[in-house]
Amino acid sequence: MIPLKRRKISHTESHQNESCKFPHVPIFILERKMGASRRSFLTRLARSKGFLIKEAYSSAVTHVVSENNSGDEVQSWLENQTGVDTSTSVHLLDVSWFTESMAAGRPVTVQDKHRLKVNPKCNGDDNVILMKSYACQRRTPLKHHNLFLTEALELLAENAEFSENEGRSVAFRRAASVLKALPHRVHSMDELKSLPCLGEHSQRVIKEILEDGTSREVESTRQSEQFQAMKALTGIFGVGVRTADRWFRKGLRSPTDLIRMGQPLNRAQQAGVQYYDDLQKPVTKAEADVISDIVQQAVCAVLPGAEIQLMGGFRRGKEFGHDVDFLITHPEEGKEEGLMAKIIKWLEERGLLLYQKTTRNSYLEKMDGPARPPNNMDRFERCFSIFKLQISDRSTGSHAERSVSQSETLSWRAVRIDLVVSPYCQFAFATLGWTGSKLFERELRRWAGQEKHMSLSSHALYDNNQKHYLRAQTEEEIFAYLGLEFIPPSERNA
Ligand code: UTP
Ligand code: MN
Repeated sequence: MIPLKRRKISHTESHQNESCKFPHVPIFILERKMGASRRSFLTRLARSKGFLIKEAYSSAVTHVVSENNSGDEVQSWLENQTGVDTSTSVHLLDVSWFTESMAAGRPVTVQDKHRLKVNPKCNGDDNVILMKSYACQRRTPLKHHNLFLTEALELLAENAEFSENEGRSVAFRRAASVLKALPHRVHSMDELKSLPCLGEHSQRVIKEILEDGTSREVESTRQSEQFQAMKALTGIFGVGVRTADRWFRKGLRSPTDLIRMGQPLNRAQQAGVQYYDDLQKPVTKAEADVISDIVQQAVCAVLPGAEIQLMGGFRRGKEFGHDVDFLITHPEEGKEEGLMAKIIKWLEERGLLLYQKTTRNSYLEKMDGPARPPNNMDRFERCFSIFKLQISDRSTGSHAERSVSQSETLSWRAVRIDLVVSPYCQFAFATLGWTGSKLFERELRRWAGQEKHMSLSSHALYDNNQKHYLRAQTEEEIFAYLGLEFIPPSERNA
């Protein structure tokens, strides 16, 4: 276990530095209505148990504890202190959370019963829904109530990506994401009045669908030759938007066109075309589990003690995916070096890889530093590969086929898999970064930069004010550093 680097603690609290066991949960106890003597009693009690108690309220505080105050009272007290809306970034808690934590000897998970109720700011409208504006501040379940709208907005987002219009694409994705977080199906434009991230264009599309059942823009995009060709071409493993666009301009429309016209392809693209049909078929959770077991076996065989975790959509609870993502590490720092090559060799010797390309780990903290713009691309050692998954005909073939092949002959399908190896000290960041969804990740980085003056990547979190890295061993600690409520993977489906 690597000792957790502790947060810089102000001078008034430095005496508790040694005994502080929970530096990632800075607590502020509100004196209002409690009185100074009870507050100092609670402070001493908590510190004796290793809790970090802040004398003054600051943006570092993640948990505010008070007694006999309403949520609104605490909120307005804090706003007077800081001048900002704090409701988004701290837990406002009843003293019951504190006493339970004292009894447990650790900060217990915040539950609804602990939270002080804060009434929405009165603006004369009773049925407004309070929706936080960053997707990483919200819970977004996998199954939601507005697929008929989000599917349309996401198609427009995809189309914007095909023309490399990132701003437009993100705007549509954010709008869709807000609708995914709604607790009910949208029936009228009125219900959307108080929601963030719904731009004029998205609203126009939503209005049309609510009134007419479909949007002409969405349907004409869906039918357009360019959209369909770009979807088919970017659907080929190894083909990005730029390449697809170039091919489209040359008159190519599909993988078969590439073969027919003798289009030169690189090694990845050749594999992409060769296994196109298989790779278009969604990967089921059951298939992901079978592959997990095999990769786990490989990892254990080549480096006992190494750990492997299923990432991406499957970690968020999806039942289908376009690929299977794995994150691998070893608790002993440095042991993970050279691991990828050994795993690949183990799999290749057993004929389990149809294609693989490994990129080296190119991340160096002191070289890359925090100054780099928060970038989606991480630099772990990574293997993009196509896995040969054995399947018995019985479970997959049609009825006719099944009766023909009585003897359970083996066939196989191709599945895209991504293997990523992370050093142990970056594992929490890599876990957070590889869980997704892509929009959730993007919003986390935006929140970190814009609201907290921090830089978040899949490798590290850097505090640009304090000019130091914030170490973490769990995702929970990273959310706490960012002043965000912890959102479990199953609710990161933004
Ligand atoms: P995926 O593209 O695999 O998406 O990226 P997904 O959520 O698992 O969905 P499907 O079912 O496969 O389509 C998984 C996560 O890995 C991160 C992405 O941000 C996403 O959150 N990722 C992916 C990276 O950090 N870097 C990459 O180069 C690729
Ligand atoms: Mn995935």
